[in-house]
Amino acid sequence: MTSRVIPVEPFVLVVFGATGDLARRKLIPAMFERDAAGQLPAEAVLIGVSRGQLGQEEFVALAKEAVDEHVPQAERPASLMERFSKRLNYICADVTGDAGWAELAAQLALYKEHTIVFYLATGPALFGPICENLGRFNLARGNTRVVVEKPVGKDSESAHAVNEAIAQVFPEDRVYRIDHYLGKETVQNLMALRFANGLFEPLWNAAHIDHVQITVAEALGVEGRAGYYDTAGALRDMVQNHILQLLCLVAMEPPAMLDADAVRDEKLKVLRALKPMEAPNWVRGQYRAGASAGGPVPGYLEELGAPASRTETFVALKAEIENWRWAGVPFYLRTGKRLAERVSEIVITFRPVPHSMFGQGAGPIVPNRLVIRLQPDEGVKLWLMIKDPGPGGMRLRPVPLDMSFASAFAERNPDAYERLVMDVVRGNQTLFMRRDEVVAAWAWIDPILQAWGQSPEPPKPYTAGTWGPSAAIALIERDGRTWADGGM
Ligand code: BG6
Repeated sequence: MTSRVIPVEPFVLVVFGATGDLARRKLIPAMFERDAAGQLPAEAVLIGVSRGQLGQEEFVALAKEAVDEHVPQAERPASLMERFSKRLNYICADVTGDAGWAELAAQLALYKEHTIVFYLATGPALFGPICENLGRFNLARGNTRVVVEKPVGKDSESAHAVNEAIAQVFPEDRVYRIDHYLGKETVQNLMALRFANGLFEPLWNAAHIDHVQITVAEALGVEGRAGYYDTAGALRDMVQNHILQLLCLVAMEPPAMLDADAVRDEKLKVLRALKPMEAPNWVRGQYRAGASAGGPVPGYLEELGAPASRTETFVALKAEIENWRWAGVPFYLRTGKRLAERVSEIVITFRPVPHSMFGQGAGPIVPNRLVIRLQPDEGVKLWLMIKDPGPGGMRLRPVPLDMSFASAFAERNPDAYERLVMDVVRGNQTLFMRRDEVVAAWAWIDPILQAWGQSPEPPKPYTAGTWGPSAAIALIERDGRTWADGGM
């Protein structure tokens, strides 16, 4: 089966921060891939904006380099790159001052019938000034949309300031707060799994589910982003957005329809029902030197180039949702850098059978588990107890019903940014965070940040290449449970 490519209407994508990491790693390659797939109309244009004094040719060269680096060779024949290059324009502008804006306005005036998407691929400190200038130069007209990257602020107060600055210029129905986890194929499959199958919904509650684990583990360290990362830490960088969004999709009530506000209303209710966190339901860690991907790697402080920092590179939390569906079901959340492997998965563990009719020789009956793997090897596994084949009596063991998306669907899996940018062009906000969701997420995170800020204890050290500090293991073992490492 091949996916349908539905061409979009003519648009201009204006990327602020066009020479930065995000533009090069994600946005330019994503646009190239959509072009290659035949989704972009001939009139689609990308205008790169940044303060670098680049000529048009230099920007095209930068884009080509980005495509060469991030798009597999077989997907980028020279003819496609040539076509893509013709869509590219560059403007040097001072986003906090006046320079370059008149030129941008003149360019955009050429595209009166196009949808205009302003993508703010810059630090959040620039969101306000850029929006202000878009308003001042009368560029935030009716057919325009703005996309902002996470993090939206670093706590409730700063998020409010950023959201206010955006709201001065763009109404909420034209604001797209991106969380690229929502664009991942398997994350959307979570909705398909829950709401397009009759099997799970009757069991999807505290009566049948023992607990939920959400792990987003990375093997990489901070990779040259230490400057940003040290001001954020894992709680702000991963939990406030990606992990809470995953938790919402697992826990939300069925929306009446796949409509942006219907889905976001349900997610919001989950965020508002989160029980306020307190010790000892959290663990924060920081990696020390160790080994990863077969080689020695430095610790966080060495990578940062500073002898002291209390920024956490690992977080484990035991969260609870105070509503009828989930009362008493722990949601164990875990994320970190330089962990044993790169794996993101959601594990739903069902309650044990009430009684075993099998004798001791059959072995233990392991509770059923549904594992939704986001990356790598995306897929879904349902662990069931079955009889060991052959004679020798009734011996039981857990075996997965295993669906790997790579083998079930031969086609390439588009990157989250490809889908999300096209959704912005189409005006579909379903996979973007609404302002009140961001507010509710920060309201839950703020007290954790405050408690950590006031605590005399530094983050717990862990060796790079392991599963985090031993306290994270103790967090779940205290409840008589274990982390489901290794897809089980
Ligand atoms: C980003 C974080 O939002 O997500 C990074 O800022 C993190 O620190 C990245 O590495 C992980 O994304 P993915 O898609 O590689 O799991």
